[in-house]
Amino acid sequence: MGVVTVPGDAVPVTLGRPSPGPAAAPTEGPLVDTYGRVHTDLRISVTDRCNFRCVYCMPEEGVPFLPRQEILTFEEIARVARVARDLGVRSVRFTGGEPLLRHHVADLVAMVAEAGFDDLALTTNGTSLATLAPDLAGAGLRRVNISCDSLRPERFAAIRRRGDLAMVLAAMDAAEAAGLAPVKVNVVVMAGVNDDEVVDFAAFARDTGRLVRFIEFMPLDAAGRWQRDQVVSAADILGAIGARWPLEAVPPAPDDPAPAEVFRFADGAGSIGVVASVTRPFCGTCNRLRLTADGSVRNCLFSDDERSVRDVLRSGGSDDEVAAVLRQAVWGKLPGHGINDPGFLRPSRSMSMIGG
Ligand code: 5AD
Ligand code: SF4
Repeated sequence: MGVVTVPGDAVPVTLGRPSPGPAAAPTEGPLVDTYGRVHTDLRISVTDRCNFRCVYCMPEEGVPFLPRQEILTFEEIARVARVARDLGVRSVRFTGGEPLLRHHVADLVAMVAEAGFDDLALTTNGTSLATLAPDLAGAGLRRVNISCDSLRPERFAAIRRRGDLAMVLAAMDAAEAAGLAPVKVNVVVMAGVNDDEVVDFAAFARDTGRLVRFIEFMPLDAAGRWQRDQVVSAADILGAIGARWPLEAVPPAPDDPAPAEVFRFADGAGSIGVVASVTRPFCGTCNRLRLTADGSVRNCLFSDDERSVRDVLRSGGSDDEVAAVLRQAVWGKLPGHGINDPGFLRPSRSMSMIGG
């Protein structure tokens, strides 16, 4: 695949510029930013550790992990989740690193579920899911996204460096058997690596009824090797699939600004999605807020603007003070990630340290 042409961001961005508008966030009402985006989705990274070393995420060796005392406890995470709920957050997703590596993570799911959210989901590499799926479902988890970047065992092993395709496929079955459905399958597409499998994955979606989501490769790899010509555009992905099986766009639900654009097969045999973060940024409708494993609130995958909520929690801060950190973090959000800006600087933390 050759160099892709990438249109400019939907919203022009100048990085490093302080957000416009009054400096202080509002003290009541929903979690809104200076561009009017209301934040209702919280991504909680429960660990920065992972047992895989996917090429698009982690380096092969020498990954420094956070010391245990820097990681939020379950009580601390649940408290932030409750405060977020009181500020209008309706959905929570657990991420990592690999979230299932955190001991007794189903207990955390239960604690967060108790706070009452419309949706509770988790993104996993699938390793421990066959064992944990029933407990997670029992704790109140609704759905899982499972990463799987190749349907060929050797290539799967080469991309993810550790781990095994058969185990990940078994994890998908286990999730469905436990009622964690519909299963979504995340495929990071990289030029010259796995882009020749796009149609195979579409066939997999048709055969299994799972929603395969093709994700454009983003500059979040720890090795810093991302190059624009490794990005396979959503347009190319949809072109390849549509040439085989015609696709129809599924209009987004008005209350669900999910990043994936969903397309159904015109013959009714299921659907696929594309997450076009690079070529069709969806920052204008972003409703997400992130909590890192070490207790920083982050308003964007691509912004290093982080505020520690852990300091507030561990110095005896009140719920109002926790809320103020969340509000201020959202208020400081830039209009877009700026990947397509000439001056784009990649974030200092890579994906496993932020949480997808
Ligand atoms: N680009 C795109 N997606 C990525 N993920 C991890 N790193 C990248 C990257 N550089 C995805 C994984 C996983 C989710 C947590 O994030 O596929 O599904
Ligand atoms: Fe681990 Fe997920 Fe990163 Fe792969 S993408 S190394 S499974 S955290």
